[in-house]
Amino acid sequence: MIISAMNLKGGVGKTTTAMALATAAEREGKSVEVYDCDPQSSASFWALLADQNNDSLPFSVTSANLATVRRAGIQYRRNPDKWIFIDCPPNGNIMDEAAEASDFVVIPTGPGAADVVKTIETARTLTKREVFYGVLLTQVAANTLSFAKAQSEIEDADLSYFDHQVRRREGLRNFFGNSFGDDLFGYEEIWDELKEILRNDEEIHYAG
Ligand SMILES: Nc1ncnc2c1ncn2[C@@H]1O[C@H](COP(=O)(O)OP(=O)(O)OP(=O)(O)O)[C@@H](O)[C@H]1O
Ligand SMILES: [Mg+2]
Repeated sequence: MIISAMNLKGGVGKTTTAMALATAAEREGKSVEVYDCDPQSSASFWALLADQNNDSLPFSVTSANLATVRRAGIQYRRNPDKWIFIDCPPNGNIMDEAAEASDFVVIPTGPGAADVVKTIETARTLTKREVFYGVLLTQVAANTLSFAKAQSEIEDADLSYFDHQVRRREGLRNFFGNSFGDDLFGYEEIWDELKEILRNDEEIHYAG
């Protein structure tokens, strides 16, 4: 299966989401790989630092390009034996290629108005291309006006979204350069919800 973390906006939690979901999948015994498509190489640096900290990640992070992403799509799309999480940059042709290759796209977004505007644009682009996606609100502080506003804008725009959100957690920032501990900061629920979405989708035929 191929899951991309994608948003035309930077700094919304794409890399964190790809790494946390990859960890959740690996802990369940799946064969997992992260593809780093971002020239900033955040996911690759995360893995490199973890090696240097003697805390190596439990999956490999591979630098990927247009051709490797297309190849992965041919090999692993709709294939439940291998889970590839693609960490996308917020722009460029590679986003289109990743969208095309993916079974599902997670669109992480912060609750800020600038994030939501770009999230709606990203979702509309994916809808046009008939790619399944779900918007995932992250860095959320419960009971705040920005959260309530973001949620209603996402609903009003008729976007697909995850029922669960990821809270803003200072501890999550410290995992850059380390593997996750027992606590996946709410990404456990997101992983469960993602599998449920894939199971309920008749076109995807995920039976795991
Ligand atoms: N739920 C959260 N709570 C607190 N901090 C978070 C949370 N999610 C992500 N962050 C932090 O926010 C910053 C941006 O996250 P991340 O790098 O995952 O975003 P990105 O969309 O991949 O950014 P870029 O567009 O630069 O690739 C990082 O410092 C990360 O540690
Ligand atoms: Mg990133």
